[in-house]
Amino acid sequence: MTTTLLRGRLLSFHRAPASLNDSESYLYESDGALLIRDGIIAKAGSYADVKAAAPEDVEEVDHRPHLILPGLIDTHVHFPQMQVIASYAANLLEWLNTYTFPEECRFVETAHAERIATHFYDEFLRQGTTTAVAYCSVHKASADAFFAEAMKRNMLMVGGKVMMDRHAPQGLLDTPQLGYDETRAVIEQWHGKGRNHVAITPRFAITSTPEQMSAAQALAQEFPDLHIQTHLSENHEEIRFTCELYPEATDYTDIYARYGLLGKRTLLGHAIHLSDREADVLSETGSVAVHCPTSNLFLGSGLFPLKAITRRDKPVRVGVATDIGGGSSYSMFKTMDEAYKIQQLLGERLNPLDSFYLMTRGNAEALSLVDRIGTLEEGTDADLVVLDAAATPAMKLRMETVNTLPEELFLLQTLGDDRSVVETYVAGVAVKTVLGK
Ligand code: GUN
Ligand code: ZN
Repeated sequence: MTTTLLRGRLLSFHRAPASLNDSESYLYESDGALLIRDGIIAKAGSYADVKAAAPEDVEEVDHRPHLILPGLIDTHVHFPQMQVIASYAANLLEWLNTYTFPEECRFVETAHAERIATHFYDEFLRQGTTTAVAYCSVHKASADAFFAEAMKRNMLMVGGKVMMDRHAPQGLLDTPQLGYDETRAVIEQWHGKGRNHVAITPRFAITSTPEQMSAAQALAQEFPDLHIQTHLSENHEEIRFTCELYPEATDYTDIYARYGLLGKRTLLGHAIHLSDREADVLSETGSVAVHCPTSNLFLGSGLFPLKAITRRDKPVRVGVATDIGGGSSYSMFKTMDEAYKIQQLLGERLNPLDSFYLMTRGNAEALSLVDRIGTLEEGTDADLVVLDAAATPAMKLRMETVNTLPEELFLLQTLGDDRSVVETYVAGVAVKTVLGK
């Protein structure tokens, strides 16, 4: 049994903050500590209390004056797109056809998938992200590499073999039967192994025939506890083509509804251009709209109304994500910095408490995994990030004039990146400094 005591300033949310002054929405301990036993947070509180409860010979790591938060969570990324990020394209469909689909074809090779998996986890941990929800490629080998590496690192990851059987190169297509069989095989091989969660992953309605959507529906019925992930209403041209392919559906959202793919475990990437009717359906089914701000700006897809959609009479659940490699940064700080600017353009305010809630507890709630990750609550997994808001000379200088916690968080969000991540812990084990980068 290993027991460690981490000392630092603790920050963890109890619920979504109602305003910038809502100090009851979070726990902040200016001299706090966590007692970690076998990868679980055994005790959280003031240093004095935690120290008193710890064994006398406990190993103590002093992270003062830094902040200790739950590990950051990214609810939409593409594992095979690390060599797609920063590709110059006019819009989503051009970007997919010119760069993304050809690149994903390479994941038929196990050795390539394994190499990228190593880089993938190294990079996410450098950025302080301890859980991500990922699309693998259509090839089962890519899912095998993704989950094997997650297990090696004892990380809680959600991922799925993409199902796609049309409108892409031959090397990137399965069939309704193969998509079904291989997704089943991935579930049987990986779901519940280590901390792995498998997601049913029809890429989007353009690349799945009605027969394949029925296969995804069958999987969803057989495995009702699994996450489902797909893309929705990202780009006007995409929406027009999708609705042409499914003329019987009322709108894009209705396609997924008809195949029983909406629900509390469904994550819908982008969901930018929704009608009121569609937002109502997402709300009624408990489906999650995943905001991907850097991607939505990079591909010119549009401005997701994050604040407005959560404030409706029928509010929509939301998550936030990088969408690597349509997204332009691995950093959740950069992601929230862009999310902030999008709200500014829409005449809304996204305050720093909102942002840090969304990156941690908010995303855990979106995944229905808040009993395990996203907070510093006792009994949950010790996935943590240690943050320094004075990590660079410019940040250090700006910190001289920072007086409050929200100001510090806003500075981290605006100027921070991987350099602000002093340490990342996975199930109580320090991993960032071990990477040596
Ligand atoms: N829609 C379908 N596939 C993708 C993808 O890989 N990235 C983005 N941004 N949108 C998609
Ligand atoms: Zn995506």
